[in-house]
Amino acid sequence: MVSRLLECGDQRAARIVAALPTDGDGVLDPLAVDRLMISVHTELQRLREELRIDDRLVHVLGPLFAAIRATAGHGGPFRLVDIGSGLGYLVRRLAATRALGPDVELVGVDLDAALVGEAGRLARAEGLACGFVHGNAFDLPEAATVYVSTGVLHHFRGPALADFFRAQAASSALAFCHFDIAATRLAPIGAWVFHRARMRHPLGRHDGVASALRAHSDHTLLSAAEVPGIRPLLYEPRGMANPFCTTLRPVLGIRPHLEEPLRRALGRASRRLVGPEQLAGTAR
Ligand SMILES: C[S@@+](CC[C@H](N)C(=O)[O-])C[C@H]1O[C@@H](n2cnc3c(N)ncnc32)[C@H](O)[C@@H]1O
Repeated sequence: MVSRLLECGDQRAARIVAALPTDGDGVLDPLAVDRLMISVHTELQRLREELRIDDRLVHVLGPLFAAIRATAGHGGPFRLVDIGSGLGYLVRRLAATRALGPDVELVGVDLDAALVGEAGRLARAEGLACGFVHGNAFDLPEAATVYVSTGVLHHFRGPALADFFRAQAASSALAFCHFDIAATRLAPIGAWVFHRARMRHPLGRHDGVASALRAHSDHTLLSAAEVPGIRPLLYEPRGMANPFCTTLRPVLGIRPHLEEPLRRALGRASRRLVGPEQLAGTAR
């Protein structure tokens, strides 16, 4: 892994990995890796709490579920699946605040078993009505009504980004809503300041800045989300938001019949929801 990182030109990441505990053959100690992942994600959760990112998610997800209820023709239950849920902060917070209503079942899915185990342990300790599954979000036996994620999109590069959206469009889901770092000029410096101030382990500090540098532009996200059967929309694109306040903003993909009810449910805030045809007019 160290030589791979060096080949990619990421010497800092190579140094961080080289400092992790290994066995006699140089294989990373899996328990130490699990512990590190949990501790870095715990620090990430604290940053989310400070930036009140999850309240901003509810600001969009609430109207989205209102639009779904208005058009569904049945009383639910509906299902929200958080792809790459990490420690499950979003799902646990939605369960604790009941912000989306009792008819929305809350599920977090992650490929990392240690994070899923810890998310489940925290949910049980807090007595919350939500579930966590270890595995690939697209291999679940039951499809989602709405797929969401936070801080995951920048991991998908090139064709993998459109494939990610296409898989959701091909399912029976009615919408997706993915929050990721807004690619502003200030994002890498902002990420450096916040992660330097709030995170202790070099991995968290390095990953924060690397993630901001990998953030997708508004144009890239909207183009990738333009897949058959889906109306792609961006909430608070770069030209509409204060770059000092923007951290994460979502790209949405909705079944076309949901657009009008969603705009109605958002009220005045629907002016901040733009499609590809308006994006050129909003970019600075
Ligand atoms: C940067 S972490 C974000 C964790 C969490 N959303 C947060 O904000 O703290 C990205 C996570 O996505 C997970 N992931 C990526 N693709 C996935 C998939 N197809 N199904 C489930 N988890 C996935 C990875 O295992 C990783 O834990």
